[in-house]
Amino acid sequence: MSEVSTAGFRLLPGRLSPDAQAELVGEVLSRLDNAPAYKPITPGGKPMSVAMSNFGALGWFTDARGYRYQKRHPLTGEPWPDIPAMLLELWAELADRSVPPDACLVNLYGPDAKMGLHQDRDEADLRFPVLSVSLGDTAIFRIGGPNRADPTRSIRLTSGDVCLLAGPARLAHHGIDRVIPGSSRVIPGGGRINLTLRRAGPSG
Ligand code: SIN
Ligand code: FE2
Repeated sequence: MSEVSTAGFRLLPGRLSPDAQAELVGEVLSRLDNAPAYKPITPGGKPMSVAMSNFGALGWFTDARGYRYQKRHPLTGEPWPDIPAMLLELWAELADRSVPPDACLVNLYGPDAKMGLHQDRDEADLRFPVLSVSLGDTAIFRIGGPNRADPTRSIRLTSGDVCLLAGPARLAHHGIDRVIPGSSRVIPGGGRINLTLRRAGPSG
């Protein structure tokens, strides 16, 4: 498959085979039994339409106190489940060979979920990329530049696609305009799962 690459944004269409996608969906869903997805509250007080959980030492979280990474699930009080080995291998191959990711945000999109344009900037060391894996229903992804007013373009992310926000694109604004319900059968019951691997804590 061909690769789209512009100034630090890399899209690897179909990087995960259908078998790998099915295996990863299983790994994710079994972990969510112990770390159930919840709809976090933005600092502005609104519940997000995307349900979230995390894997790894640190998990991204938001509530009235703001955005941050924390070591425990907000509802269970337990540490987050481990990051599936397949994702660690993908990070080593595409992002960084020597420093592993310590956070994997799990985003679950139902038919009406969307995510507004934002930057990922709560990580300690922005030299590491953000690596994103899409599973299930196709999403209409929007990506712009480092300034909110920069022009944006719209890209379809389908199941098995992997993309990287690296270098100049690390602080690019991005979001999900909508998902296309019923466009994939990879997830039992439908929907979309997006996994983003990050190095959230300091690398030293
Ligand atoms: C995110 O920016 O955290 C999610 C992006 C996506 O769902 O593809
Ligand atoms: Fe993001």
